[in-house]
Amino acid sequence: MKIEDLKTVAILGAGTMGHGIAQVAAVAGYRVFLRDVSNEILENAKGNIRSSLERLAKRGRLSEKDLEAALSRISTTIDLKEAVKNADLIVEAVPERLDLKQRIFKEVDEAAPKEAILASNTSSLSITDLAKAVKKPERVVGLHFFNPPALMRLVEVVPGEKTSKETVELAMSFAKKLDKTPVFVKRDSPGFIVNRVLIPYLNEASKIVERGEFKVLEIDSAMQFKAKFPMGPFLLSDYIGIDIVYEILRVFEEKLGPFYKPSAPIEKLFKEKKLGRKTGEGFYGYKEGAPKVPEDAGAVFDVNRLLAPMINEAAKLVSEGIAETGDVDTAMKLGANLPEGPFETVKRVGADKLTGVLKELEKKHGKGYAPSAFLSSLKQ
Ligand code: 3HC
Repeated sequence: MKIEDLKTVAILGAGTMGHGIAQVAAVAGYRVFLRDVSNEILENAKGNIRSSLERLAKRGRLSEKDLEAALSRISTTIDLKEAVKNADLIVEAVPERLDLKQRIFKEVDEAAPKEAILASNTSSLSITDLAKAVKKPERVVGLHFFNPPALMRLVEVVPGEKTSKETVELAMSFAKKLDKTPVFVKRDSPGFIVNRVLIPYLNEASKIVERGEFKVLEIDSAMQFKAKFPMGPFLLSDYIGIDIVYEILRVFEEKLGPFYKPSAPIEKLFKEKKLGRKTGEGFYGYKEGAPKVPEDAGAVFDVNRLLAPMINEAAKLVSEGIAETGDVDTAMKLGANLPEGPFETVKRVGADKLTGVLKELEKKHGKGYAPSAFLSSLKQ
């Protein structure tokens, strides 16, 4: 299949990510079938798509005519076969459980056209494992979007062990058609690039609170106003969803080791079903609107305390052959709206200083913080 022949897209799962992906595909001119298990979820998704499009229209990024045209390209259904039967590309965005995703892929494999691409928006599961559910793993690929898909410019394209070159190329071209920047992830590995760097950073912030060293507002204020991140780690955890953060950390703990175990505050919120924005409570309460993070609350928190372990994770990615430094920088800037990439931060702050912070942490809290050989090799 050539990219020009790709016209119809099915999105399976109409939650936070699914409805956002359906929206960007419809805006780009694709015919979209959005499927979920109940009409109520689908109605909700349509409402969310409309309000997101209206926000874009208000900012002049979309005309009223294009808004209505995009909406008219989206059909919703609870019937999986109906959704995929004419699709050239299918993106699954169902909850993050391997058995569920494999079951969906198996059904899609039988109901979709034989040449259709089967993409997964998984945030942490293995594409190779997902592909085991289908007869032709060559046509399975990771196509990982970022929340909110309407605004975030990155898409990670992840090959499984058996993914064909043609499938990867189509996935890269499709992302470009959506006006996104695709970054190719060289190796299928837990969390790919952005989540592998970002999610342990959220956990680290929460460990600092757990140890009683700093408070939520102090850390969020410092990261937002001093490090110039778009939001601090606790506001971001609530934004992504505590359940999503928790589940990704559990996968990391299992696949990468005990250093990635969800911290106690995250686990507690998860168990209490305080999942962040979507449930009205997480690290912050949302019932009376978005929380206000005071600009002066973070004066004593040293942002390198969080930047160093985060950059160490980025360096591990490079030494494990998952991505090059330039791609990690691009991915973190476009997938998390960071003001600079991790390796740009190394250049600005200096590898010596960052490894110094890590060695202190290693002394106090154990081997998980040991500076990676790659980060140490960047010393001037
Ligand atoms: N659709 C359309 N427009 C939207 C929107 C949406 N979903 N969300 C926000 N906007 C618009 C608003 O209307 C607003 O427009 P205005 O300036 O004209 O009023 C503008 O965008 C800015 O929005 P806000 O003022 O509400 O908030 P911010 O300026 O903080 O921007 C943000 C919001 C882009 C989400 C920014 O805070 C940000 O970049 N945060 C970090 C997000 C991030 O890191 N995402 C990745 C998470 S990891 C992930 O998704 C992977 C997964 O696998 C876990």
